[in-house]
Amino acid sequence: MQRIAVLPGDGIGTEVTAAARTVLDAVTRRHGIELAYDDFDWSCRRYLEHGAMMPDGGLEQLRPYDAILLGAVGWPGVPDHVSLWGLLIPIRRTFRQYVNLRPIRVFEGVGSPLRDAGAVDFVVVRENVEGEYSEIGGRFNRGFPDEMAVQESVFTRAGVSRIADYALTLARGRRSYLTWATKSNGIVHTMPFWDEVLAERAAAFPDVRTDREHIDALAAKLVLQPGRFDVIVASNLFGDILSDLAAAVAGSIGIAPSANLDPTRTFPSMFEPVHGSAPDIAGQGLANPVGAIWSAALMLEHLGHPAAAADVLRAVERSLADPAGRTRDLGGEADTAAAVRAVVGHLSGS
Ligand code: NAI
Ligand code: MG
Repeated sequence: MQRIAVLPGDGIGTEVTAAARTVLDAVTRRHGIELAYDDFDWSCRRYLEHGAMMPDGGLEQLRPYDAILLGAVGWPGVPDHVSLWGLLIPIRRTFRQYVNLRPIRVFEGVGSPLRDAGAVDFVVVRENVEGEYSEIGGRFNRGFPDEMAVQESVFTRAGVSRIADYALTLARGRRSYLTWATKSNGIVHTMPFWDEVLAERAAAFPDVRTDREHIDALAAKLVLQPGRFDVIVASNLFGDILSDLAAAVAGSIGIAPSANLDPTRTFPSMFEPVHGSAPDIAGQGLANPVGAIWSAALMLEHLGHPAAAADVLRAVERSLADPAGRTRDLGGEADTAAAVRAVVGHLSGS
């Protein structure tokens, strides 16, 4: 029995996690998998009532779970930095979720904004705990003409090696092709170090073909030839930007999934759709549930149930190819419930 902490959060977060639960219930029953769920109401709603997104000792409560399934947090009236720093960032950092994984696919039936996207199926692996997003630095001479700000990037051998190994191992299980993002022509200390460690680790995976690309050129290639990529690994900042760019290439924010992983499995990993709480459509049953459902599939994979995960992804693929399975953001007419029914209807079982 594996235990899942469910944090629906705010807005459509509650609708899409309920949708993901319905699909999980159906697929686990068919594959003979036992999962137990506990719901946590940590959210902006809670913040407005109690003054905190989560209770004292909240992270300790999550610690024993095998995985965390999150909807989205954020609501008008609560500053976004409160919802982010009061819940998401503490979970990612305390639980050492050093991999942020964003699979990208262009599905049949989902129009990419690119005219000739072709077959697109790649994964962005973003370093999630160090790099450019460090808290080291400061402001000096505030309010004077010589006011200044300094922010340090932190790249450690351990941190770069483990993200490289994760990406190389992932590539080996796919099409054995890794692209690494860099900017060693402009950033002359950390990026050459990043390149050196990546090259060192890549040498231990001779079966994986690698390419090194400067981030600016890579951004252009992602738009011009998205079909050529398999696994892309990038530092925290570059990975953040690339993964949103890549999600846009795939057509809709509503289908994009993500995983925040601690591959050592010391701590629970967290699975969440890329989109936010969408206050503009919340409570109307219009949310596209696919981002949350695909995130649940990533969770099944992480929990050691690859056949069930593949079953969900296949069902998503088939339901999107069918106009009756597509929500309004994809030009279809399905509401959330109809989209969920379409996915469940396409599960094959075992
Ligand atoms: P958003 O992703 O919530 O919405 C952007 C646009 O995409 C909206 O028009 C929305 O209706 C649409 N959309 C998003 N998900 C959809 C879905 N599943 N189906 C159909 N349409 C969908 O981003 P926004 O508006 O910038 O942020 C709203 C709130 O969500 C903010 O408070 C923000 O901080 C929070 N947020 C939370 C995230 C998280 O919990 N990881 C991530 C992004 C934003
Ligand atoms: Mg982002």
